[in-house]
Parts: sequence; structure tokens; C-alpha cells
Amino acid sequence: MTYYLRQGLTPAKHFTILPRPEGGRYYEELYNSAGFDGPASLLYRLHRPTRVLHVEPESPMPVEAWDPGVVRNHSIDPSLLKASGDIFDARVPIAFNRDLVYSVATPDTGGERFLRNGANDELYVVVEGKGTVESIFGSFRYEPLDFVYIPRGTTWRLLPEEGQQRLIVVETTTQIAPLARYRNKVGQFLSRAVYSERDLRVPTLADPIDETGEFAVAVKVGEVVSRYVYETHPFDVVGWDGALYPYALNMRDVEPFSGRVNLDPDLDGVFESRGVLVAAHVPARFPDHPQAIPNIPDHNTDCDEIFYRIASEADVGPGVGRVTVHTRAGGHGAKPGFDRPEPGLRSQLWGVILDIVEPLQLTVNAIDADDPDYPAAWL
Ligand SMILES: [Fe+2]
Repeated sequence: MTYYLRQGLTPAKHFTILPRPEGGRYYEELYNSAGFDGPASLLYRLHRPTRVLHVEPESPMPVEAWDPGVVRNHSIDPSLLKASGDIFDARVPIAFNRDLVYSVATPDTGGERFLRNGANDELYVVVEGKGTVESIFGSFRYEPLDFVYIPRGTTWRLLPEEGQQRLIVVETTTQIAPLARYRNKVGQFLSRAVYSERDLRVPTLADPIDETGEFAVAVKVGEVVSRYVYETHPFDVVGWDGALYPYALNMRDVEPFSGRVNLDPDLDGVFESRGVLVAAHVPARFPDHPQAIPNIPDHNTDCDEIFYRIASEADVGPGVGRVTVHTRAGGHGAKPGFDRPEPGLRSQLWGVILDIVEPLQLTVNAIDADDPDYPAAWL
């Protein structure tokens, strides 16, 4: 949800007939959120989107808790989390609570089916790989350092190009949106926000596909996946308008804050959902107060933190390629040896930090990828 868009054919007034030139009418579909109070869009289709031939079970997507017997900090090597298939099959959940499931996905195909998360919003972060997001609203390209937002209920698919793909997947119980405190009363981004409307890449609607046959959509609701087989191609939209649609934001378009002394990472928040703040860690000027401490302060915060260090502009960055899960109870901070070189220089790290209000649980998938010695990494 960001702002109002209109593409393709729409009637002058909502809930009125859009006639076809050859006679008859297009079929209007209301797509909304938060009951009838949230952002919504209206789509106009060649065929009715309700014509289901049959529904069958598909492989479930379980999220199984790991109880390590203690609550401690973790460092996980995502390269050890392997799965293949489309962006549903290829995701490996590693942490969760009632507000989110955090996974890492390595898709190697677009798959035969279309996808729809019926219960959760999805925010992807592209670590490696390029390709195309196709949806009922149209398509856009994705590339490394992109955030890709897919609102719940969207029928879509991810078409990866050749080569290694790796994406973070954040599924949230409530809606994911740009930070409310960076927008004005009508939803427009404030000039002090870390990004604005022009930085968002929205779908471009192509010609509708008029095909009849059998078209499978994998519909995920929690751990249960159902295969809905429809009579017509799902991408048969001739036009739509509204404020609920997928979009992308690249981290290179995020303008970070910097200060004379340390700034807390919540200033770099880019998206939020209930109990979840998503912050972009992008290269920024280091504090330049002559007495600034040489790194971030050690912190014992009232939240859990998942930090994926995606890339560094230096040859080797601290912890690049690892995912750390820092617990509220343990305390953490900068590792020894990584003090800032000089005031006023730039940090070089690209990453994504999630601050999470409710306590996290790790999943069994994290067991073999976890470094059991990590709690002592600050010695
Ligand atoms: Fe932290």
C-alpha cells in the first residue's frame, strides 16, 4: 500500500459496468485489506476469477520450532540452507513468532504454478539474483538489494534468471507498509523520509492473457497449501486502480541519516508491520563528533534482532553473508576489531535489520547452520 494508481481500462465510476467493445462486460473484482478499512484496488478481468475447477492438497510448508535449551545469540550461515523449486518450495524458515516467519529462499525455477499467500503479507529482500515478478497487476524486474512487497491475496509468480538466487522472505500476520511516521496525513512521504514515491517501482500491466484450460494456483494459508485449479489464465486483467498492489524499492535509493554521534537504527526503518520494524543498513557517513565513540554502543534492547549482512563495498566486511539473531536478554554490540577507522568516513555494509517486539523462536532448519560458539564472539 502506497498511493493511488490507475492502469489500463477502468469505468468512470467504481462498481459500474465496464462494457466490452464486442458486447457484454468485463468482470470487476474487489481486492481489499484489513476488512474493508484498508487499502484496496478494483480489477477488471476478461473472465470471472471465481471459476474454480477443483481444489487439492499440495505439500505443506511446516514451521517447526527448535528448542536449544537456552536463549542465546545465534549466527547462521544461510549458504547451508538449501532448497529448490519455485519461491514457495525453495524457502527455508529459520525464525518465527506470532507476527512473522523469517525464511531464506533459493529458487531455481519459476515453476509451473502461480502463487498466492492467502494469510500473510510478504516482503522479500533480494540478496543474489535477478528476474521478474509477474502478477495480476502487471510485472516489474528485480535485482540485488531490492525489497519486493507482495500484499496478501495477490496471484503472482517469481521468474528467476539463470544463476544463483537468494532472497530473504518475511511473512507477516498484519499488513507491511512504509513507516507511518515518515508519511503525512494523506499518506504522502515526508521529505525527511529515507525514500519517497519516486523510488518505488510499481507493476506495468501488459495485455491480458485470454486462455482457457487448467491453471494451478498454490494458495498458502499458514502451513497449509492448497492447489486451486482455475478454468482461465489468472493474468486476464484489462485494467485496475487503487492503492493495494506489489512494488519494489532498492536499497541504493534509501537515503540514510547520519549524525555527529551514534544514531539508532530505527531511523533507517523502511517498512513496518505489527511487532516488526524492517531497517535498511546502507553505507552512510560515520559520526564525526571529535569524541564520538569508535563504534555503535553495546546494547541490551527490548526486542530481538535479525541482521542479514548482504554485501560490503570493502573486499571483506565483518560477518558478510551471515544472519545473526541477537536476543533481547543477551546484549550485543560491535565485535572486537571492527572499530570505525576515522570519524567522517562511510560505512560500507549493505544489510537488513529486523527489530522484533515479541520473543523469537528459531526453527529446526537453523540447527545445522548455527555456530554454537557465537555467544563468545565478543571476546
Ligand atoms: Fe543490534
